[in-house]
Amino acid sequence: MLVEGRITCDHRCVLVGRAGPEHEGTTQPEAISTAAEASFASCGEERLRMLMQGLVRHLHSFVHEVALTESEWRAAIELLTATGRITDAERNEFILWSDVLGLSMLVDAIAHPKPTGATESTVLGPFWVEGSPVCDYGEPIFESAAGEPAWVHGVVRDLEGRPLAGAELDVWQNDATLLYGVQDPEAPEAHLRARFRTRADGSYAFLGVRPVPYPIPDDGPVGAMLAATSRHPWRPAHFHMIVTASGYETLTTHFFDAESDYLDSDAVFAVKPSLLRRFVRRRSDDPDRPPSVSGEWWSVENDIVLAPTV
Ligand code: BEZ
Ligand code: FE
Repeated sequence: MLVEGRITCDHRCVLVGRAGPEHEGTTQPEAISTAAEASFASCGEERLRMLMQGLVRHLHSFVHEVALTESEWRAAIELLTATGRITDAERNEFILWSDVLGLSMLVDAIAHPKPTGATESTVLGPFWVEGSPVCDYGEPIFESAAGEPAWVHGVVRDLEGRPLAGAELDVWQNDATLLYGVQDPEAPEAHLRARFRTRADGSYAFLGVRPVPYPIPDDGPVGAMLAATSRHPWRPAHFHMIVTASGYETLTTHFFDAESDYLDSDAVFAVKPSLLRRFVRRRSDDPDRPPSVSGEWWSVENDIVLAPTV
């Protein structure tokens, strides 16, 4: 028989189902869920209350749905503990969890719905470094890099097709070593990253290298989960960009090599068809060959359309 009981604490008091005398001390699972959700009822900040109650509701419903065992619960706690231990100023394993579970892309999609015609956004990733050097139109973003030279060029426009002069593009990429500059202790300080401003006609260009697919950091708990679930850690080849212009929404995005492996199985779900670009093979005697390039090279056009701030 169930009778109504009370669980109290310092600032609140909630009703929960409680077993009668013949089952003294047992509490029904549903009553625990109700009590945990109700424990936030008096939170004065409406949004925080909604977040915490929704979190409890979904966590409890997950536990019910999969009938979580004690050893599975312990394993999850150990995983979170290991995630905390491996996280430091350079590496955030919590964000990596968010990435590989598709949460980062979901939050981004909700936060940045783009009007038709605007360039779509994707995840920032862990390898962006603030304060990259400001370079001139056409300059290389490396002193020397592994891989094939790639001339990246395009125009930044608004939704009406008008060129945006003075927009800033903050770009970073990996090279054929698979590494970003920040991952390579031997590399010069600003290896494979730079900032550019668009010219009066909205154009920008720089010399990079053709990027290659690479695995996300997979020597921690996230990597262990990927291996245990038969998922791979690879991302398709891409360039990163943050594009800013006064009066326009800041755009954090990539563009992807349309011929890369892993386009349909990106470990962090960041590929959008509108962000695929073709790299064009150029010969060494091509009259447009950039001055610092010898031999064959690639070019890739990547126009950007910014949405106005609302
Ligand atoms: C990246 O593209 O740099 C990246 C994004 C998410 C997780 C790991 C790496
Ligand atoms: Fe990346």
